[in-house]
Order: sequence, then C-alpha cells, then structure tokens
Amino acid sequence: MYPLNAWYAAAWDTEVGRTLLARTICERPVVLYRTGEGRPVALADACWHRLVPLSMGRLDGDDLVCGYHGLAYGPNGRCTRMPAQETLNPSAAVTAYPVVERHRYVWIWPGDPDKADPALVPDLHWNDDPSWAGDGELIELDCDYRLVLDNLMDLTHEQFLHADSLANEELSDSEPDVEHDEDSVTLTRWMHGIEAPPFLGMQLKRKAPEYRGPVDRWQIIRFTAPSTVTIDVGVAPVGTGAPQGDRSAGVNGQVLNTITPAGPGSCHYFWAFTRNYHLGDQGLTTLLRQSVSRVFGQDTDMLNAQQRAIEANPDHDFYNLNIDIGGMWVRRIIDAKVAAEQGRERTHPTVLASVAAATRRTA
Ligand code: FES
Ligand SMILES: [Fe+2]
Repeated sequence: MYPLNAWYAAAWDTEVGRTLLARTICERPVVLYRTGEGRPVALADACWHRLVPLSMGRLDGDDLVCGYHGLAYGPNGRCTRMPAQETLNPSAAVTAYPVVERHRYVWIWPGDPDKADPALVPDLHWNDDPSWAGDGELIELDCDYRLVLDNLMDLTHEQFLHADSLANEELSDSEPDVEHDEDSVTLTRWMHGIEAPPFLGMQLKRKAPEYRGPVDRWQIIRFTAPSTVTIDVGVAPVGTGAPQGDRSAGVNGQVLNTITPAGPGSCHYFWAFTRNYHLGDQGLTTLLRQSVSRVFGQDTDMLNAQQRAIEANPDHDFYNLNIDIGGMWVRRIIDAKVAAEQGRERTHPTVLASVAAATRRTA
C-alpha cells in the first residue's frame, strides 16, 4: 500500500548511466539510463511487442533497443524502429515515467504524470549542499517500507539494537515532542547533561579534542510523506547553548533516509549521513559512512526478521506503546493519501493500528 502520486528515489545518480539499470518501483518494473547528453530516462521495463525486459537490450544513441527482436524506443517511450517492417504500428510505445535528478538521486513519479510537479521532490538538499559533506548507500530490504519508517520514527531502539554505538539510557527516559500535519510528522527529543554515545563522542573528540564532560544530545526526526525521513542529530558540550539554538560548539549531522517500495514486503532504502564540520576530510566521510553502514546492518537484520515473523503470524495484532506515536501518525498520513487516490474512506485508526495485518506481503 503506497501512494503513487509521489516522487520516489529510484537510484543514486551515479547508478544511472549508459548501461541499463533495472529496478522495481511500486511493483512497476523500470529500466533507467541516461541520454548522450546525460538526461536520466525511466521506461517501463517490458517491451511492447512481447513483454521481455528492455533492460536485457542495449542503447543505440538515446534509443533503447529491445534485445529480442530489435524494436527501438526513444526516451519518451515511443517506438522509433521496427527492423522487420517499414511502417510503425502507431500504438507501439512503452510508458515513460517522469524523472527528476535532485540531491544526488534520480527520482521517479509512478502515478499520474500530469501531477508530477518537480517542486514536490522531498528536500534532501544536505546531500549536495556545499556547507555539508557526507555519503551514503542503498540497502535492499526484504520488508514492507513502513517497517523502516517505524524504525526511524522511534529511535529508542538505539538503546538496545545499537547498544555499542548510539545508546543512551536517556533515550527511553526522555519525552519527545510530536507535531504533525497532513504531510509531515516531527518528533523532537533532547537529552541533557548525558554522556555522548560512542558514534557521536568520537566525532566530538575530533572537533573539541580537550572536552571530556557531559553533553546535550538532540534528535529531531522529520517525516515527509510518503517515505522520506530526515534526522537532525548531534551532541554539544553542556552549557554552550545548543538547546537555545547555538550548536556551534558541538557536532551536527543530518541522517537522510528515503525509502522506495519495490513491492509488498520489499523496498529500496537510500540513506546518507552528512555533517557540517571538517568538510574536506574525505577520511572522515568514509569512516562515518562505514560506521553508519554497520549500524544500519543491525537494522537490516532486525527488519528482515520482523517481516518474516509478521508473515508467519498473519492474524497477530500488534500492541502500540507510547514509543510508537511517530510511526502511528506516519501510517495515518500514508493511509489518507492512498485512500484519496483510491477514492475510498480512510482506514479507521484502530484497524490501522494492527501493524501485522497491514504489512503482510499478501495484504
Ligand atoms: S519482445 Fe521486444 S522486440 Fe520482440
Ligand atoms: Fe536503527
């Protein structure tokens, strides 16, 4: 269950080039490539003639040539050549999806092309803003994309799943502030006068090598529909004014996450970790990417196992705790958008709360 009238990250910009890239987006097989001028193209990965994947073909200039009988398609999806006949069948075409390249990703709009407004691409500007530096990866997950959103909206799990890198007991003890509207949910948590967890403490040592004392830690998690979550994270020495707005004495990162459904029970998870200090330090960029990659590997194992357990227990209803508040709002927003697209009533919140029923592969 996903809104179709939305931009989804289809690929990192560097993944799309002059070789054909096949990827399934919202159950739609898509083939991605760039024209000779570098413009990204996304076509349905199924030949008009006999449905074989066009990604098994080859490029001829800006045209994609099917690998079976040689029909060629232009970047707009229209057939440009039928080798065995002079006259082109006028209906010969494949879907060309709207695409936009922004913030180091190629975005695709799987829904109504008339609604594909580039202004609606989620804001992940930290990824190519010169005041920030960082890098990320793509994780292929065997789980419903909403399980990843649940995971990101409740970071108390860092205390347990990431005990060796991101844990503070205060994660569970502190009350977050939650705000939401039709398209977004923001969850803010401050932990005052605590010991920096290893991942953030290591960064603070680079910026303020002499400092040994307690820190203020923050997490500002912002969900933007349908599936982007940015997390403003950091620590600063106590007494330097971070809670009042001056974070200059601390270290600040933006964790960028955007999750693209592949189909029921699988998704593409694009993440990046960016920082606003020591911008030219490529070694630090690599170290942080590797560190976060290891942390997200722990999430990957947990999320894949959770999906398998959900599928094995299709009638199990989940209990929602106060830590699940962010994820609950996320599900309501997504459901409202899908309901609007499908012309149906919104799902009642108590039904929606049954996470297991909603995220089975067969749901
Ligand atoms: S299946 Fe593509 S040209 Fe025949
Ligand atoms: Fe995690």
